[in-house]
Amino acid sequence: MTTHKQLVLSGMQPTNTLHLGNYLGALKNWVRMQSEMPCLFCVVDMHALTQESGYAKADDVRRATREVTAAYIAAGVDPARTPIFNQSQVAEHGELAWIFNCVARLGWLDRMTQFKEKSGKHKERSSVGLYTYPVLMAADILVYRATHVPVGEDQKQHLELARDIAQKFNNDFGVEDFFPQPEPVITGPATRVMSLRDGAKKMSKTDESDNSRINLTDSADTIAQKIRKAKTDPNPLPEDKKGFEGRPEAENLVNIYAALADTTPDAVLGEYGGKQFSEFKNALAELTVARIAPIADEMRRLLADEAEIDRILKDGAQKARAIAAPIIAETKKVVGFVG
Ligand code: TRP
Repeated sequence: MTTHKQLVLSGMQPTNTLHLGNYLGALKNWVRMQSEMPCLFCVVDMHALTQESGYAKADDVRRATREVTAAYIAAGVDPARTPIFNQSQVAEHGELAWIFNCVARLGWLDRMTQFKEKSGKHKERSSVGLYTYPVLMAADILVYRATHVPVGEDQKQHLELARDIAQKFNNDFGVEDFFPQPEPVITGPATRVMSLRDGAKKMSKTDESDNSRINLTDSADTIAQKIRKAKTDPNPLPEDKKGFEGRPEAENLVNIYAALADTTPDAVLGEYGGKQFSEFKNALAELTVARIAPIADEMRRLLADEAEIDRILKDGAQKARAIAAPIIAETKKVVGFVG
């Protein structure tokens, strides 16, 4: 049994604009967790450099860092209660990542499916940073001895790696329970938001069709239009979940409705089962606008004052460092660094 205090840590990369999938799959849950356990929410700008030619677009990283910060706050993360910070301002992440690079095995990283997907056929041309990305992620978590990590299904393997690294560190250095075994908090299937153009694909910021996703910065009109244009089939909504068989678009829209309304897909079908999509889409458009447009408005308001965002990040980094610094100091002693 672990003796570590419960602490939540999660993070998002400052890449393109955030979308409904990020909100329902992550942010909405973060806001809830904030009242259940102490949390830390990070903007992982160091990870952003592993994107193809990421470092060539410094302005994009800067802009996206502020945008993601604004999205956290606009969605309801309260910076007065929960530190919000960008990773690069807490040097301890990088320090622990180096130590963990010496703990993790090549064989472990070779098994990471995300690296295989991202590097494609040209592994030898990928950056070493992309390869060791999950090691930095383990450091993000363990530098605070975080115990709970809300992540999407696609990050589960990285979380397992973090657990393996923690365990090997503890074993190799003979320090039982020094680092905890962080638990993934996987958000349910209802929050796996799919593309509005193809119910078999995840909603993604890299999809070439902007109609496939609702961006957190979309205007009310754009949101409503995208929902009305969303792909469906000609049949009415099914009466129950069994009727989703072979109808991924119907399932996705109902799941989105349920998540936004804080109810279950069954309850939504209780109301709309047997009705036409045109009617349901009107209701969904209204609900989505009611939930998302205020976030977009608040993001715009926050982004108008860059200095204030930067101050929030600096303040968050200071609080984060206060937790990380003693843990890194202890870690350095454990591995034999003098000082
Ligand atoms: N790899 C995560 C993603 O792409 C982002 C991330 C980096 C993260 N460090 C983290 C998530 C630490 C949780 C905890 O979604």
